[in-house]
Amino acid sequence: MSISDLEHAVDPNLGAADHPPQKSSGWVVFFCFMIGLVGSLIVGWFLFPQWLYSEKHQPIDFNHSIHMDNVSDGCNSCHFFREDGTFSGIPDLSACTDCHQDVIGSDPEEEKFVTEYVAQDKEVQWLSYFRQPDCVFFSHAAHVTGAGMSCESCHGDIGYSTHSKVYQENIISGYSRDIWGYSISRFGKPGEHDGKPMKMNDCAKCHLEETGSKGACFQCHK
Ligand code: HEC
Ligand code: HEC
Ligand code: HEC
Ligand code: HEC
Ligand code: HEC
Repeated sequence: MSISDLEHAVDPNLGAADHPPQKSSGWVVFFCFMIGLVGSLIVGWFLFPQWLYSEKHQPIDFNHSIHMDNVSDGCNSCHFFREDGTFSGIPDLSACTDCHQDVIGSDPEEEKFVTEYVAQDKEVQWLSYFRQPDCVFFSHAAHVTGAGMSCESCHGDIGYSTHSKVYQENIISGYSRDIWGYSISRFGKPGEHDGKPMKMNDCAKCHLEETGSKGACFQCHK
């Protein structure tokens, strides 16, 4: 086989100036491509994100803003570091009962909270928007006490919101949308009370910027 035979095998149009490619088939291909493109944009931008997340609601709608006006030590009143440096996370009933032994206002959410939880000494099963899989080690102390970062820099201004957010669970990965990020489509922009995405690459990106190293696997996986 000669070189020119090979070239013909690769590109049948080579040296075939007397057989110009048919224009009409080009248009059919282009047309099909556009239908496919528009179709997938509709699915990707509009249908897919709605289908991809299942929504759950907190057992009680909690108003951060009202509480920030009433507690004495800001966020610390409920989310604090224990003596051993570990972080308390979402508070349990003991952070609430000083004020909510009895119903103090007329909000139906408070009445529900007092009668169904406080009076029965039952903990609220709060959903955690940011909780990572068990294989991940995360330390609040290293970031807040150590590196001096604000809560807002990762969590947005959820601490000043007037309603609990809807918990959106990615039905394929099982991740909360607050970890997965809001960037799948332009309808997925973070809202004012959303934090930053917290996938492995998001953590590593900041570590690289702040410390010059992405960190070894065992830094975050114990
Ligand atoms: C320093 C006192 C104080 C503490 C501590 C406190 N609350 Fe409240 N809470 C209030 C006040 C004041 C209101 C407003 C009552 C009104 O006028 O309706 C309120 C309102 C509420 C309401 C109704 C409004 C809303 O948020 O939807 C709920 C539910 C509630 N609290 C739950 C809790 C829970 C859960 C905790 C513990 C994690 C807690 N509170 C801790 C003082 C407190
Ligand atoms: C009176 C107690 C109280 C105070 C004060 C308070 N929080 Fe909360 N926080 C809660 C409760 C209860 C929840 C769980 C309910 C929810 O997420 O709506 C929560 C949830 C959160 C979450 C979501 C965590 C997750 O993984 O789901 C963040 C972030 C948070 N608080 C940050 C803050 C910040 C920042 C402040 C101060 C600006 C603050 N909170 C002040 C009681 C409090
Ligand atoms: C560097 C980013 C970062 C900063 C800064 C930060 N957090 Fe978090 N927060 C996280 C991550 C990641 C998780 C999930 C941790 C896990 O799964 O162990 C989390 C979880 C939480 C939870 C839920 C814990 C639970 O029980 O599920 C609360 C509440 C919370 N953070 C509040 C705060 C508050 C209040 C501050 C400021 C004092 C703060 N965070 C600062 C990243 C951050
Ligand atoms: C916006 C920046 C930022 C983000 C996002 C961030 N970190 Fe960090 N992280 C830091 C800084 C700064 C330090 C302190 C580094 C030091 O002291 O050398 C730190 C320290 C740590 C440490 C302690 C390291 C040690 O050896 O003491 C762990 C573990 C960690 N980060 C895990 C995570 C995980 C997991 C995530 C994502 C869920 C995350 N971080 C997201 C900035 C960030
Ligand atoms: C800066 C912190 C950090 C470092 C360093 C890191 N990881 Fe991760 N990793 C995470 C976080 C956070 C998650 C959970 C979120 C996600 O899946 O992206 C995760 C998830 C994973 C998962 C998926 C686990 C699951 O349940 O789906 C694997 C596998 C993994 N990491 C392997 C590694 C390996 C291998 C290295 C070293 C090359 C490494 N990680 C380094 C933070 C880190």
